[in-house]
Amino acid sequence: MRNMQGKVVIVTGAASGQGAAEAKLFAEHGAKVVVTDIDERGEDIAASFGSSGHFVRHDVGDEGGWAEVMRQTLDRFERIDVLVNNAGVFKPATLMETDVTLWQLHYRVNQLGVFLGMRAASEVMVKTGGGAIINVCSNAALNNVPGMFAYASTKWAVRGMTKLAASEFATLGIRVNSIYPGIIDTPMLGQNSAEQLTHYKSMIPMQRLGTPDEVARLVLFLASDDASYITGGEVTIDGGIG
Ligand SMILES: NC(=O)c1ccc[n+]([C@@H]2O[C@H](COP(=O)([O-])OP(=O)(O)OC[C@H]3O[C@@H](n4cnc5c(N)ncnc54)[C@H](O)[C@@H]3O)[C@@H](O)[C@H]2O)c1
Repeated sequence: MRNMQGKVVIVTGAASGQGAAEAKLFAEHGAKVVVTDIDERGEDIAASFGSSGHFVRHDVGDEGGWAEVMRQTLDRFERIDVLVNNAGVFKPATLMETDVTLWQLHYRVNQLGVFLGMRAASEVMVKTGGGAIINVCSNAALNNVPGMFAYASTKWAVRGMTKLAASEFATLGIRVNSIYPGIIDTPMLGQNSAEQLTHYKSMIPMQRLGTPDEVARLVLFLASDDASYITGGEVTIDGGIG
């Protein structure tokens, strides 16, 4: 058990997949959890945590929405200790197939959303003694994975933003780390063709997909005081893809 008693955690994109598993694991470890998503199914997930859960319908690319998440979290739980920037979109396309609309969708959710989240949460965390931010990146930000130009570009940006933020916040008590999932069994995989999926699976040395629960355990560790000297870290969780 990691001790998360009394900690207040915000997980974005927590209505599905990894975010839902992370929210559940934090709640099981005693945290108060704010579930945010554009998907209303997040409401049921938050409700399953009883008085320790709270749902905010939230588009991470909307600056005003972040102010509302902060306001509701402080009203309900009085502090913010952890932010997991998990929300993401993935629509595979090569550079030549990528139009401005597709580019802007990825930019808005995967990149702008992470910037806005780090800025909003850090403003609160500096006043309450610090905290931890985990940015969900991707193996696509470590390797040259063709066919996902806009997606991979935004994840490379998140990798860089994490390093910059970790350095800026290092003396403020706020740790910022990024994680690099490989191929995790969530609804997002449905965006791939069967052929692409077979190809990606063939790249995994452990010869199986990762599970949302496995990613959630990594996020919980990085959020906990057991990771007190880890900031700016880049942790892979990909069955050995590297
Ligand atoms: N599944 C994988 O193989 C994999 C691999 C590497 C990285 N990732 C990353 O993991 C994270 C979680 O993805 P997942 O696999 O759980 O997929 P998922 O599709 O199950 O979950 C993504 C969630 O983000 C939410 N979302 C989308 N746009 C949003 C917005 N504008 N504002 C708020 N929420 C929004 C969706 O509603 C959904 O609940 C993403 O950042 C993704 O890029 C996934």
